[in-house]
Amino acid sequence: MFEWTSDMSIDNGFIDEDHKKLIDIANRVLLLNRPNRDAEELKRAVRELYDYVKYHFDREEALMREIQYTDTESHHQKHQSFVKEMNHYLTSSHHMHEMLDNFQKLMHEWVIHHIMEEDRKLNNFMKSRTPDP
Ligand SMILES: [Fe+2]
Repeated sequence: MFEWTSDMSIDNGFIDEDHKKLIDIANRVLLLNRPNRDAEELKRAVRELYDYVKYHFDREEALMREIQYTDTESHHQKHQSFVKEMNHYLTSSHHMHEMLDNFQKLMHEWVIHHIMEEDRKLNNFMKSRTPDP
């Protein structure tokens, strides 16, 4: 199971809320992936995860452009390749369990590396721009 921890926090309310929600949906997918699973419910959850990832990336990138974040383009590229990988697993997996295994690895990679490293750089950038009171 994935868990949001305070060291993932970004100094911007909506990003943390989005990350928590993404982790919730990813955990729901994991929980639904059990013996005698309801395939339709599982597919709906995977679809919800996919849609929410895209929605979240769009708004995170809109924020980057708004604050003129210097690494916007490379961060955008990382989001794009994540979405591309999700698309690939959704369309080319032969079995549900294969797709879910890959999704799980991808989410793990995203939670551990993307949030902890890439999104933190954005956090540091925002902090560096905030004038001292
Ligand atoms: Fe990001």
